[in-house]
Formats: sequence, C-alpha cells, structure tokens
Amino acid sequence: MSLLPQRTDLDVVGAGLTVRLPGGDTVPFAHLDYAASAPCVRAAAEAVEGLLPWYGSVHRGAGIRSRRSTQEYERARDVIAGFVGARPGDTVVFTRNTTDALNLLARCLPADVTTIVFDGEHHANLLPWPAPLRLATPSSPDAAVETLERALRSLRGPALLAVTGASNVTGEIWPVRRLADLAHRYGARVVVDAAQLAPHSPVDLAELGADYLALSGHKLYAPFGAGVLAGRADWLDAAAPYLRGGGASASVGAAGDVTWSTGPARHEGGTPNLLGAVSLAAVCAALTRADRAALHDREQDLLARLRGGLTGVPGAAEVSLFGPAQPRVGIVSLALPGNDAAAVADRLADDHGIGVRAGQFCAHPLTRRLTGAAGVATCDASTAALLRVSFGLGTTGADIDRFVGALGALTSVGAGRQLVGARTGR
Ligand code: ALA
Repeated sequence: MSLLPQRTDLDVVGAGLTVRLPGGDTVPFAHLDYAASAPCVRAAAEAVEGLLPWYGSVHRGAGIRSRRSTQEYERARDVIAGFVGARPGDTVVFTRNTTDALNLLARCLPADVTTIVFDGEHHANLLPWPAPLRLATPSSPDAAVETLERALRSLRGPALLAVTGASNVTGEIWPVRRLADLAHRYGARVVVDAAQLAPHSPVDLAELGADYLALSGHKLYAPFGAGVLAGRADWLDAAAPYLRGGGASASVGAAGDVTWSTGPARHEGGTPNLLGAVSLAAVCAALTRADRAALHDREQDLLARLRGGLTGVPGAAEVSLFGPAQPRVGIVSLALPGNDAAAVADRLADDHGIGVRAGQFCAHPLTRRLTGAAGVATCDASTAALLRVSFGLGTTGADIDRFVGALGALTSVGAGRQLVGARTGR
C-alpha cells in the first residue's frame, strides 16, 4: 500500500510554495487571497498540458489540430452549461472574466430596459449598466427584498436586476432566490454575478432563479483567462456583436453588408481562448464529481476557526452587511482601527509569509458604507481600507492559525501604524 498522499483533480498547484523570512527562516506561503485570484488546481493545469500538443485554430481549419481544438472548445462549453444548469434556450458565451461578461450583457440590453443594482456591488456589477436605478445597500436580506419591491413598483417597462451571489468584501451570501422570485413577479429579469459564489457553492441558474449568470475562471481555480456569461439567448442574439470581426460574422458581402452569426459565436469575435475555456471546463467537471457538501463543511470549519480566532484579536473588527449570522463563503474583511490595512498586509507578507489583500476591493461604495467613511471622496482613501482574508481548496487550519497569530502580534504592537498613508489597494 502506498503511503504517498492521494493526488486529486482539486489539488492546488504550488501548494508547497515556501518563502524565506527576513530572519532567515523558511515557511510555507499561506495564500489567503483567493477572492482576488484563486490558485490553479491540477485539473486545470493538466487540461492545458494535455491539450497543448493538439493546440490549433478553433473553428478555422481542417487539420487534425484544428478539429481537435474545435471539438474541445465546444465540449468545454457543454460542460460549463451543465455546471451552471443551463436550460434549453440558454446560451453560454466565453468571455475574459466576470467584468467582461457583465459588460457584454450590458451592451446587449434592449433600449427600453431599466437596470437595477444595489450600491453594495463590486464595480464589475455596478459600472457596466447604463444609467441604472441604484438602490441603497440594504442592512438585511429582508430590507433588500423590501427595497427592491419598492423600486419595481415604481417602474414601468422591462427591467433587469443585477445582483451578486456572494459579496467579494464580506463573503455574505445575498438572498438571490428571493430577489429573483420577486423580480420575476414584476416581469423583470435577473443576472447573478457568481464570481465569488461559484468557487464555494454549486451555482444553478434555475435554483438561483437567474436569467443570466456570470463567473470568472481565475477565481474558479482556472487562471487561463476565460470567464462565462450564461443565460437566455434572445437579447444576446438580437444585439450587435460585442466584437465585430471573424467568427462573429456569418457572411460579408462585396458592399460590406454583414450577416452576423447567432448563438455564442456572435459575441466571440476573433480566435477564442481555447486553453482558458478547456481549463475552466476541467475544473467545473472536477467540482461536479467532487463531494461539494464535504468541501462546504470543510470551508465552514475553517471559517469558524478564523472567526473564533479573531475574537482574540482586539484590534480587528469583522465587517458585515447583514450581521454575523448571515451565511457566508470563505471571505472575511476586517476593519483595523488605528492601523493602516495596507501596511499590515505588507508586514504579513514580508515578516510572516502570508498573502492577503488590503484596500477597497473594487467595491468602493460598499467599503465606505462598511467603514462609515461616507464622506471619503477618493477611491483609495486609507480610512475606507479593509484587510481581507479569503480561502478555499487547499487552505489548512495551520494557514488560518498563522494568520490569526500574526495579525494579533502586528496589531498589538501597532505595526500597521508605521506606514500610515502607504499604498492602499484598489
Ligand atoms: N474582484 C476581485 C477582488 O475582490 C479582484 O479582489
């Protein structure tokens, strides 16, 4: 019997990475910044490695490489369609990431559609929408539903609610199904930003009640530059192509008259990102095969360990929109009154070999609200900066304990005060 640990598709590539500390010690790198970009898992790396010898032009050649590449690209689309529970009539368009996917949908909106967003969204789900109806960030799931209902009652004509599945700042899970059911009662459609939810929880269009869903490969353990917009095809087929060019065009006449493709090709102009698509599909397939309930339980244990440990760090206050009992994914952001979050993050990296993110996480209205820095005018004001810990596959209890211990040591001596005004993250 082999005593070697069993390799799995969901092993993290680079799990054994070590860093040398200033004192000369070498320690394992504790990567706790998954919400920004999760590490690659074996399934993604092996999918890329396996396909490279066959790499060729997708949809554009007769040779064996091209045929194989085309087949793998379309197979990837099918796998991802299954992963997100695409329904008959739904389409899956490959994009670069969630930002790209939501911008694509924004460009495809019929002119009379009013978009509705809560202020607490990531910029990717706040900024693409044309003149959105912006709703105040709610302080509870019930308040979110009530606020949305008031907005829907006041609207005439078609609408689209754009809402996150899980906050990239607090990790809290939004009441997507309740909001979607309500939106549908008023004839509105719903797009879910699943960038932070999909790495932690199954995402199914029908179960979420979503018309569209967007996600990113780089947060889903497949860092090869692909994302996805999945959902209803009608608006996408009727809209102008996202990128005009080959692939998006079915035929071009001598006078420059163009018949545009329908289906995903319409919005995938140019040679597509085959390796991104295939690696993302490989992770989706591996997650589908995995025991998601067990992964969820493990992550929740780590979350409880982290939050329990933080109660012993007086200088750190967890921020939350809906309150501490709201279900959340493996993301916790901390206000560090009296300490500069960016300086603390730097010290965690330099002195302890721990990687976290500090700043406002591309969610400025939300972080201002959470920190009470309502009057702060600039985007990167350190007063609104938080320190964020985020984790997932491959994270260990030891990683969490090291973070808690190091943070306690740094904040107790006010280490983060030395660099006030130093760089702050975006
Ligand atoms: N949206 C990513 C984050 O929250 C980049 O860090």
